[in-house]
Amino acid sequence: MTAPHNNYNIDEIRKDFPIFNQKIYGKPLTFLDSAASAQKPQCVIDAVNDCYSHEYSNIHRGGYFLSQSLTAKYEAAREKIAKHIGAKSSKEIIFVRGATEAINLVAYSWGRKFLAPGDEIILSQMEHHSNIVPWQILRDEKDLVLTVSPIDQKGNFLLEEFEKKLSDKTKLVAITHISNALGTITPIRQIIKLAHNFGAKVLVDGCQALPHKNVDVVDLDADFYVFSGHKIYGPTGVGVLYGKQHLLDVMPPYQGGGDMIRSVTFEKTTFNELPHKFEAGTPHIVGGIGLAVALDYITGLGIDNIHQHEQMLLDYALEKIKDVEGIELRGQADDMAGILSFTMKSAHPHDIGTILDQDGIAIRTGHHCAQPVMDFMDIPATARASFGLYNTIEEVDRFIDGLHKVNRIFA
Ligand code: ALA
Repeated sequence: MTAPHNNYNIDEIRKDFPIFNQKIYGKPLTFLDSAASAQKPQCVIDAVNDCYSHEYSNIHRGGYFLSQSLTAKYEAAREKIAKHIGAKSSKEIIFVRGATEAINLVAYSWGRKFLAPGDEIILSQMEHHSNIVPWQILRDEKDLVLTVSPIDQKGNFLLEEFEKKLSDKTKLVAITHISNALGTITPIRQIIKLAHNFGAKVLVDGCQALPHKNVDVVDLDADFYVFSGHKIYGPTGVGVLYGKQHLLDVMPPYQGGGDMIRSVTFEKTTFNELPHKFEAGTPHIVGGIGLAVALDYITGLGIDNIHQHEQMLLDYALEKIKDVEGIELRGQADDMAGILSFTMKSAHPHDIGTILDQDGIAIRTGHHCAQPVMDFMDIPATARASFGLYNTIEEVDRFIDGLHKVNRIFA
């Protein structure tokens, strides 16, 4: 495994990511799309490779050496994840495919059991589709009310407006910690506190937060906190649902199958204890193990160091981008993480993306799976550059040069 870095030596850190050894169209790869999915350090790749090469078998099911030792490793990964987010117990860590599945699990299990016609769920204007659509499906099934908490044109979450929407009918608040489309950091602590005053539960979409910030679910008092492994330098196809144990305990299973049962007859099935009750079928064993290694990696670098580094890149980019003619920043909240969402007068976001790509610069363009916030801003799409722990000032310069080039081409 890669040794932790004592200080933030970006040149050394980049060496941990083999993807940067290649050129794209003969140019250095400038990867500014970590909000979509982050690149993987060698230690994560090695962990996955080692697991398949030397340690692999199914888990929770075999009495033989490989199965026992890999089961122990998988459960140690769960422990590590629990510790990383400050959960009280690893029973509160449910392995899922990703944040999307985690939210669907809560909607399907908790929502179906505990919500009744007329109950309200509050979302924010800037939610990802994965934190909208599962609630709409549930609303239509159970005759619920979905309420949208507003933002301003800069992308600030309007806490006072949110407070006005809360009532005794509010049963759930489902809100992002950091917006993937705008970069806004929401005042999640206050949101949770206010929601709890009305007895509502709070689900936090932490996908964009956990790679950049220290998160302590107990300190936040989040009822549910979800995230995806692939955005936090871990493997794809694995993610986590954190839920307070007393909530998970009374929630019915989400899917039926192997491992989630205690006993099965044709007449009756009894269910396994937490966390296995929610983990039907063979899990993404190697993914869970790789995710724990990714968390070790960022812990080694220091999440506060990563945050500082990314803020430095964001501040630098915000300063430089002012010189680009016709730029309109679409996320300018007072509190932002390393995401720069913008449009240009001269070109459509897809054209911006295509021109940057020719120089090996990868950004995301489109609605970022957050169409309601695009509608709110009355635009179909933005171009979005997002920073990860490995990005450099030189890459920001290349990106800004690319934007000047867009203007030259479309002049
Ligand atoms: N949700 C991911 C993004 O923001 C895919 O790009």
